[in-house]
Amino acid sequence: MDMGIKIGVLASGRGSNFQSIIDGIKEGDIDGEIVMLISDKADAYALERAKQIEIPIEVVSRKEFENREKMDARIIEILNSQNVDLVVLAGYMRILTPELIKAFKHKMINIHPALLPSFPGLDGQIQAFEHGVKVSGCTVHFVDEGTDTGPIIEQTCVRIDDCKNAHEVAEKILPLEHQTMRKVVSNLSKGKYVVEGKMVRYEKD
Ligand code: GRF
Repeated sequence: MDMGIKIGVLASGRGSNFQSIIDGIKEGDIDGEIVMLISDKADAYALERAKQIEIPIEVVSRKEFENREKMDARIIEILNSQNVDLVVLAGYMRILTPELIKAFKHKMINIHPALLPSFPGLDGQIQAFEHGVKVSGCTVHFVDEGTDTGPIIEQTCVRIDDCKNAHEVAEKILPLEHQTMRKVVSNLSKGKYVVEGKMVRYEKD
């Protein structure tokens, strides 16, 4: 039986974006399976979500390793042992080493809670609110060597001028993250994107 693409997910926290991929698979929208969830935090709620439906988990925490290179080498080893086709950073709150990035060039995606290239790095929602922008949203992009600089795959926008604080901005953007993540993983599972330099083109049937 064809199980579609093999997906590895890295998450540090709540894992609601991870959940959106689980749901997309369950509802037949994503042609693939999650073969591994890796977390750097032993108490990440994402791990509970995985355990509930028997997705294999690995905790790879920084303190077990001498340096970041050794930590990421272990992550590469785990992902390769599962032959993953796609790596999803779903709220994975660590800077990756160049080795990990190179190992999955154009095969690793990240979700960012702002419209890149605006407000890269930590707390995109707070940055957007404090800047006073009227429209924000989320971006799913391939991961390259920079911070949130890789080729943009998909973006969804929303007005945030009615938000009274950054928390409201984050609450407004989160459901868009879930939709956008699910849509991109679905399209990737069907081989719908072509990358040409910084440009990611969606190929219609
Ligand atoms: C999301 O806002 C994501 O964009 C950011 O971290 C948050 C993770 O949320 N990078 P969750 O763990 O997927 O619920």
